Amino acid sequence: MIKVKNVSKIYKKGGQEVRAIDNVSLSIPKGDFVSIIGPSGSGKSSLLLMLGGMLSPSTGQIFVDEDSLYDLNSNERARLRQKKMGFVFQTFNLIPYLTAIQNVQVPLCLSGVDENAQQERAQALLERVGLGDRMGHIPSELSVGQQQRIALARMMANDPAIIFADEPTGNLDPEMSQLVINFLTELNHEGRTIIMVTHDMKVAQRAKRTITISNGGML
Ligand SMILES: Nc1ncnc2c1ncn2[C@@H]1O[C@H](COP(=O)(O)OP(=O)(O)OP(=O)(O)O)[C@@H](O)[C@H]1O
Ligand SMILES: [Mg+2]
Repeated sequence: MIKVKNVSKIYKKGGQEVRAIDNVSLSIPKGDFVSIIGPSGSGKSSLLLMLGGMLSPSTGQIFVDEDSLYDLNSNERARLRQKKMGFVFQTFNLIPYLTAIQNVQVPLCLSGVDENAQQERAQALLERVGLGDRMGHIPSELSVGQQQRIALARMMANDPAIIFADEPTGNLDPEMSQLVINFLTELNHEGRTIIMVTHDMKVAQRAKRTITISNGGML
């Protein structure tokens, strides 16, 4: 369960203030599948980053189960993220000089999983996303859709209960978009919570419900 209580985010730079999120409160129960839509600049990514423990709110609190995310210290927060959360972004954020399998191993390595188990799990995940035959290739040797599938496999490495996706289909053709959204739906059916930002209404409709953000507030 994620609970957002009166959260605002104000970015400050050189005397200029941008109110990106303005007093938002919401609850996302375990197993929900939420899409967040709204115009460019409305605050969707800011909200997602705050939910995912990567951006501290200016005011308000975010609870993940019993923990108040930003009342934890940064080590505790990092540990919670590692244990419970998986992330996938429009730009993948893969490490360019690591192979597909090594990219998927990174979070496992950080969790202290031993090398053999890392390889086994990374291989199984890449097979699950249909990349079992390209595990030794680096991202630049793979298509955009294949890179996104590595990112999906990596997101699953630590078996996250909560999955955050920011425009996961943003760079993909319709067929690959279908594949990604089908995968997220399957993960939701396994009981995982999915929170997805998208500007594609067709993709948004695959969620159980939609939250619309406009000017930093919920409509
Ligand atoms: N680091 C930052 N410093 C200053 N302003 C920022 C920063 N990050 C975001 N903003 C501003 O906050 C507002 C919300 O940005 P955000 O990225 O959350 O929007 P978004 O809804 O995800 O937009 P898009 O659909 O284009 O990705 C925008 O006005 C943006 O310019
Ligand atoms: Mg965004």
